[in-house]
Formats: sequence, structure tokens, C-alpha cells
Amino acid sequence: MDKIVVEGGVPLRGSVDVSGAKNAALPIIAASLLAEGDHAVANVPDLADVRTLGKLLGHMGCAVERSAATRAVSIRVPAAVRPEAPYELVKTMRASVVVLGPLVARWGKARVSLPGGCAIGARPIDQHLKGLAALGAEIRLEHGYVEATAPRGHLRGAVFTFDGQTVTGTENVMMAAALAEGRTVLRNCAREPEVSDLAAALVRMGARIEGAGTDELRIEGVPSLRPLDHTVIPDRIEAGTFLVAGALPGGDVTVNGCIPEHLEALIEKLRTVGAEIAPVKPPPQPRSAGQLRSGDVGGLRVIGNGRPRPVDVRTAPHPGFPTDMQAQLMVLLCLADGSSKITETVFENRFMHVQELQRLGADIAVDGKTAVVKGVPSLSGAPVMASDLRASAALVLAGLAAQGTTEIQRVYHLDRGYERIEAKLAPLGARIRREKA
Ligand code: EPU
Repeated sequence: MDKIVVEGGVPLRGSVDVSGAKNAALPIIAASLLAEGDHAVANVPDLADVRTLGKLLGHMGCAVERSAATRAVSIRVPAAVRPEAPYELVKTMRASVVVLGPLVARWGKARVSLPGGCAIGARPIDQHLKGLAALGAEIRLEHGYVEATAPRGHLRGAVFTFDGQTVTGTENVMMAAALAEGRTVLRNCAREPEVSDLAAALVRMGARIEGAGTDELRIEGVPSLRPLDHTVIPDRIEAGTFLVAGALPGGDVTVNGCIPEHLEALIEKLRTVGAEIAPVKPPPQPRSAGQLRSGDVGGLRVIGNGRPRPVDVRTAPHPGFPTDMQAQLMVLLCLADGSSKITETVFENRFMHVQELQRLGADIAVDGKTAVVKGVPSLSGAPVMASDLRASAALVLAGLAAQGTTEIQRVYHLDRGYERIEAKLAPLGARIRREKA
């Protein structure tokens, strides 16, 4: 098992490139199950979660290959697959549940392990199941598995309102509706850019979907789809993590290849705490013909001046402040000149980084959904333990800001969502390395 060692206190300077979005790549790769043939997905990050999904599709009988040179994944989906996602694979990655909608829509049946809880909260999938049931799927829960069948082999369009906004729930039901018979209207949908990117990918496959990026999706089912040919959007959470790194005192970092429009809530908070953020001329980007995107790819330069100012933050579904950036922003607020209040409204248990940040000298008190962060002038390095993906990223940022050495254990959490973060941060002047723990 690896650990990351950071010798902190060096402000970051330089530029860094953003990879493709994990949370867009995963459902888009799962969408390949909707059509037989040879699929191509470009700008796919090389991450543990993407490899797990590749294994899962392999288990079903698909051939999945990654080209390191082009950063593309090709998927050959045969005429028939084994429509099953076993516990051994699903337990390592909750997002595997996004195969459920495509499988039941295309093969009329699916057997997918229930993902179970995870460190950041209970994370039920009741809304995925209710949505699929509205499309006519018969759902049974047996032996820890969801067994979904479509009577007469296919689903039918319906009007369905989600009880609460769910990203992968919206994705699952949208994918299923793409092949359902007739019209589906989904209300109270998640509006995250990753949902829109999946919708764009499905439209390129021949799906008829309107309303992506709003809370109402209107989908006219089609009898079949063609294979995928899509380029994944840049990862706004990876980009946001680098923006926070640059906003640390003394930083001056250009984050290339991001979509500034996807980062608005974070940019607003970073400006409030005193960072300067300006767009930079985007490097030329290949964009395949007809591709829909919810914003233009560009670059952002962030300059972290002196000590940050405090700010209150409340996480919320997009376009609100993303829960996936809460831990990283907290690091900046740990160093602020005053007290900030962070309220986590999306997940019930997403403050596990607090105890670890306290080990570095942060002054944070948690009361239920709220953390009160009293800024301190400096943090000091210490051994810490990563508990989940974004918490791990926060610990790397804290290590960069802290005086002395920080060792982060359980780096496998980080590797699920960041492509070799140490290799991206080192050229910015970070003294960071990976070691065998
Ligand atoms: N929820 C339900 N019922 C459901 C589905 C969700 O009650 O059927 C609740 C959840 O328990 C949670 C809230 O709704 O309290 C929102 O959860 P959501 O379903 O939107 O989360 P998700 O789809 O499981 C995705 C990302 C997460 C990100 C959240 C919120 C992927 C693969 N994962 O998860 O990403 O935090 O949306 O934006 O897209 C990460 O990348 O680190 C990560 C955890």
C-alpha cells in the first residue's frame, strides 16, 4: 500500500493540466451497454474506478481496452452480455450501480449487487429503483442483489419525479428511458455537468433527450442506439482541487483545460477569501463535430495572496457549492484570518477529514451538519490517514500548506479519483512523493 509524503510550506507556481472527469467517464462507459458494437470514449482518466468499471464490463463479456497514448477507452459490446454485476466488484465502487439502467433497458433483465453504505453516508439507491419501476421494471431485492426485469423484454416511457436530486440516479433512469418505448419525462433531475455530458454522449448514440442541464429531462425512446463516440468533459473537481492549491498563501497556478462555467460556485468562494482568479487564453482543444458541451474549455490562473479571509459555505447540488469540494476548501479556511462555517447538506457523514486536519493543528468544531473552522496562522505536518477520496485530496492540500512533513496513508482512496496527483503537483514546486508504506 502506498503513502504520499509531502514536505510543505512551499507556495505552488506554474501550470497544471486537468484530466477527463471521472464522474462523467463512468456513466458514459456504462452507457456502452445500450448498444452492440465498437464504442470509443476519449479523454478518459486513468483511475482505479475506471479500471474497476472496465473489469465489470469484462465480467459481462465486453472487451475493454485502454490506449495510454490517446487516453481513449474502446469497448466492444457483443450481441449478448451476462447482465450481472457481482458484489466483489460493486463493493469496491458504488458507481457500478450505473450499469443497472442500461442492462434492464437493453436486455430486459439485470442482476446488480446492492452497493451498501460507504464512509461518507448511507447512500441508498431507492430513487434509482423507483425511477426504473416507473418505467415498468419489476424490481426484487434478493440475497443482496437488485434483480430487475422488464416484462415483455422492454421498458415503457413514463412521467417520474425524483424525491430528491441524485446524480447517478438521474443517469441510470435517463439511460434506461433512452431505449424505453415512448416518451419519458423526468422531474427534479440532477443538473450536474456530468449528467449533461452523459446526455450529450447518449444524443451522439442516437438518443432523443432534451433538457440536459435543467431539472426536467424529456426523453423520446428509440428502438436502438449506435455505438458511442464521445470525448469526456474535463474533471471540475480535479480542476477545483488545483485551484484551491493555487489559492493557498503565495500560490500562483494556472489550471489548463478546465471549463470555468462548471466551477462558478467555487470561483466565487475563492474570490471572497481573497484569491485572484482570471481566465487565461485556452490552449487549442480538439472537439469532435456536433459535440455538445455546456461550456468552453479554457484555463484559469489563480493567485493566492496572503492569509485567506473567512467565508461561510453550504454544499448543495449543482449549481450550488459541490460537496466534492467541501473538504478541499476547508483546508484554505483552516488558515483564514477569522472563523468560517461550513454546512454539508448533501451527505450526512462527510467531515471525516476534520479529525485528520486537527492533527495538523487546525481548529475545527463539528456539530451535526456544520463545521466551524477557526483559522490558525499555520499548520504543522503530521502523519494522517485518508478516509475517502475527497478527504484524501484535502489532506494533500493541507500537507502542502503545512510546515514540515505530512505522511498520508491509505492513498488508494486518492487513486480512485486523481490521476497521479503527486506527478501533477511536483512540477508546481511541491515537494511531494509516493512511497511504499
Ligand atoms: N440519495 C438517496 N436516494 C437515492 C440516491 C441518492 O437518498 O436513490 C441521496 C444520497 O444519500 C445523498 C444525496 O441523495 O444524500 C445525493 O446523492 P447522489 O445520488 O447525487 O450521489 P451519487 O450519484 O451516489 C455522485 C458522485 C459523487 C458526488 C455526488 C454528489 C458519481 C460516480 N459520484 O454520487 O462523487 O459526491 O454525486 O454530487 O458521480 C466523488 O467523486 O468523490 C463522489 C463521491
